[in-house]
Amino acid sequence: MKKITIAIDGFSSCGKSTMAKDLAKEIGYIYVDTGAMYRSVTLYALRHNLFNADGSIREEELKTQMKNIDISFQLNKTTGRPDTFLNGENVEKDIRSMEVSSHVSPIAALPFVRTALVAQQQRMGAGKGIVMDGRDIGTVVFPDAELKIFVTASAEVRAQRRYDELKAKGMEANFNDILKNVEERDYIDSHRATSPLRKAPDAIELDNSNLTIAQQQQWLYEQYRKVA
Ligand code: C5P
Repeated sequence: MKKITIAIDGFSSCGKSTMAKDLAKEIGYIYVDTGAMYRSVTLYALRHNLFNADGSIREEELKTQMKNIDISFQLNKTTGRPDTFLNGENVEKDIRSMEVSSHVSPIAALPFVRTALVAQQQRMGAGKGIVMDGRDIGTVVFPDAELKIFVTASAEVRAQRRYDELKAKGMEANFNDILKNVEERDYIDSHRATSPLRKAPDAIELDNSNLTIAQQQQWLYEQYRKVA
């Protein structure tokens, strides 16, 4: 079977990461969660006081500090999934906090942040055999990917999934705050000037609002078998 590139894009909390991770594991591909990379830059900016009190970003400072931000992934032997590392520290849990979620979209809208992270993503996928999920993978990072999926689900369904996920991890969660955050991120992600979230013309759309995880996995595996 030939090695291909698989791009999975879609709105916040639509289950992209679960789909992408499970498929990568099943077919022995590398998995890259690009949202985790934007979240890591955001965590760095929060920790280094690069946000003003009004929520605006100290862009020039962040721009100079981009060279100090090293993001990598390492397989976690217990979960069988990659953990995210920021300058050598495992930040897998910290980057999922509501604080990071509510600051990440403006960070991800900055062109210099996207240029740096997209270049790293392209290097990681240079050898193919990769499943990457995000917002612009099929449109910008790998426009020639052999398989592109665009995932959607209603905002309520996505907020409920996020809520359940945070609760399961023993983290603080409030459904209405999460729904508001999901809707705000949808808006910023699809209206930004640089690489807005949109479906690539050749992407296959999947609305998974009413699918179980097992059903969506099976659907995804069938799409993979058609092209690989
Ligand atoms: O996928 P996740 O929800 O963790 O992504 C967090 C945020 O990172 C998104 O809301 C979006 O603003 C940004 N993002 C992006 N491009 C990507 C992946 C994520 O702009 N490829």
